[in-house]
Amino acid sequence: MEKVVSGIRPTGKLHLGNYFGAVRNFVKMQHEHNCYFFIADYHSLTTHPTPEDLHGNVKHVLAEYIACGLDPEKATLYIQSDLHEVTELYLLLNMNAYVGELERCTSFKEKVRKQPENVNAGLLTYPALMAADVIIHKASKVPVGKDQEQNLEMMRTFARRFNRIYGIEYFPIPQAYNFGDALVKIPGLDGSGKMGKSEGETNAIFLSDEPALIRKKVMRAVTDAGPSEMNQKKPEPIQNLFTLMDVISSPKTVQYFEDQYNTCKIRYGDMKKQLAEDVIGFTEPFREKIKELLSNDHYLRKVTRKGAAKARESAGTTIKEVREIIGFKPF
Ligand code: TRP
Repeated sequence: MEKVVSGIRPTGKLHLGNYFGAVRNFVKMQHEHNCYFFIADYHSLTTHPTPEDLHGNVKHVLAEYIACGLDPEKATLYIQSDLHEVTELYLLLNMNAYVGELERCTSFKEKVRKQPENVNAGLLTYPALMAADVIIHKASKVPVGKDQEQNLEMMRTFARRFNRIYGIEYFPIPQAYNFGDALVKIPGLDGSGKMGKSEGETNAIFLSDEPALIRKKVMRAVTDAGPSEMNQKKPEPIQNLFTLMDVISSPKTVQYFEDQYNTCKIRYGDMKKQLAEDVIGFTEPFREKIKELLSNDHYLRKVTRKGAAKARESAGTTIKEVREIIGFKPF
């Protein structure tokens, strides 16, 4: 079985875009591969060195992923900072990571632009930590989005370099796991772009949103004056509403509003009311499960302990072998 590793940023709550993007695919993958999913809390310090509520954010993300179907019995689900072995591999990889190549990474340059007041070394060596996350399990596949391609390339560079420098084919060279068509892009409610792309609280529907808030957000979604010709092509904000309805509502409902649109009889208010109710119905099991998990520290503790122990099985072996390969030996 292929070993798969991916890190989850402990930022914010999950929205429908996250769910129909990576999250649902993680859930599927856990049945087909040997998956390691972790919450990247070390990484989050590179942008938020003094986080307001690190523990709370980690807890939220953990509860939400479990609520979405990540099964701690199937996948190895852990918190990055529980796996101290990863920091040791990170240190060792840093010895063979060159400042020049790290400085050339676009994500680093972007961060320099975004937070010029805090260009810390952790930011520079972010790709080395990410490489450590993956190769500590000697994993071969990494399911990440397009924005992580360069980090993945750096990961391969570090793995290959380790093998070359120490003269041993030790680390597998990790490849991207491509979701392809399985990634459904969910548009935002503000008329353009992806859900979650803009910061506005009304652009995204979160899995934990209460029904009243969902109604409010959907009713505020951007529309226009309506079609003036039969079978008219839909402008972007309208197409977005239909796209959302397509993934959430029943085919019959979608067809009804398609017909209404094509015959210029559509009332967006009615469509949004229906969509809001369908979204509420769809998110209800998630909402309930998230609440239940957030109030069950005992269970979350059990999950993270078990996850860390499972992760340590492979990480511990790797660190032991890496130390020997480099030449650290007991007297
Ligand atoms: N950098 C990734 C992101 O921003 C998160 C991450 C950290 C990650 N370590 C990883 C992803 C290892 C895959 C593998 O989304």
